Amino acid sequence: MKAVSPDLDWKGAQVPVSKQFDDPYYSLENGLKEAQHVFLAANGLPDRFQDGLSIAELGFGAGLNFLTTLQAWQRSGQEGQLQFASFEAYPLTQADLIRALQPFDIIAPLAQELVDGWSDLLRTGQWKSGDVNLSLNIGDARITLPRWKGRANCWYLDGFSPAKNPELWEADLLSEVFFHTENEGTATTYTAAGYVRRNLEDAGFWVERAEGYGRKRHMTVARKGSKDAE
Ligand SMILES: C[S@@+](CC[C@H](N)C(=O)[O-])C[C@H]1O[C@@H](n2cnc3c(N)ncnc32)[C@H](O)[C@@H]1O
Repeated sequence: MKAVSPDLDWKGAQVPVSKQFDDPYYSLENGLKEAQHVFLAANGLPDRFQDGLSIAELGFGAGLNFLTTLQAWQRSGQEGQLQFASFEAYPLTQADLIRALQPFDIIAPLAQELVDGWSDLLRTGQWKSGDVNLSLNIGDARITLPRWKGRANCWYLDGFSPAKNPELWEADLLSEVFFHTENEGTATTYTAAGYVRRNLEDAGFWVERAEGYGRKRHMTVARKGSKDAE
């Protein structure tokens, strides 16, 4: 599939907003802190870092979740390999990627590395920084995820809001997420929408609500395996 880059607006000149989905790519308050709360901490990271850990994501966007994870991995001093697979239908242009990541000083060197490797990543689907291997699966996740050979220990479910981007939260896709999750794996998302929670439960996950980030009261944590497992 030929990748189509998204048309963007910019909120406060800093946060990309998809014109197609009429939704921002991350929290208007602080996208990086949101990534740390919703995707790292709620998946038990960095405590669960170990050689060979596999993280997967629906919606790569500007790569903020990825870069936040990469930075945490490097800071943890963990040895070995981290696999990060992301699924994205509409990859940003390099110019939009630069603009989106520019406000996040704390990850600037890693962001620069990603920007420098962006056209290669779009061409090959692969990118590496130290021991962290990123694979970007370009295309509609409803098509690319069923073909994926991997299984993740942690999932970042980061589509646009379920009301605006329902295709990234539908039952069949979340069943594929469950299938592509290791036992005792987890999946987290910023949304606590009933439709999403039900689809995760129907897929086979144990589902809980947790404290949300910023103005969101609740978010969702899903676990594969026995209910009481840590
Ligand atoms: C909220 S943004 C993700 C933000 C991103 N995780 C980050 O750290 O910057 C949602 C992403 O889902 C992507 N998306 C929407 N529908 C999709 C689909 N059917 N398949 C794959 N990606 C999709 C959008 O293009 C967008 O990049």
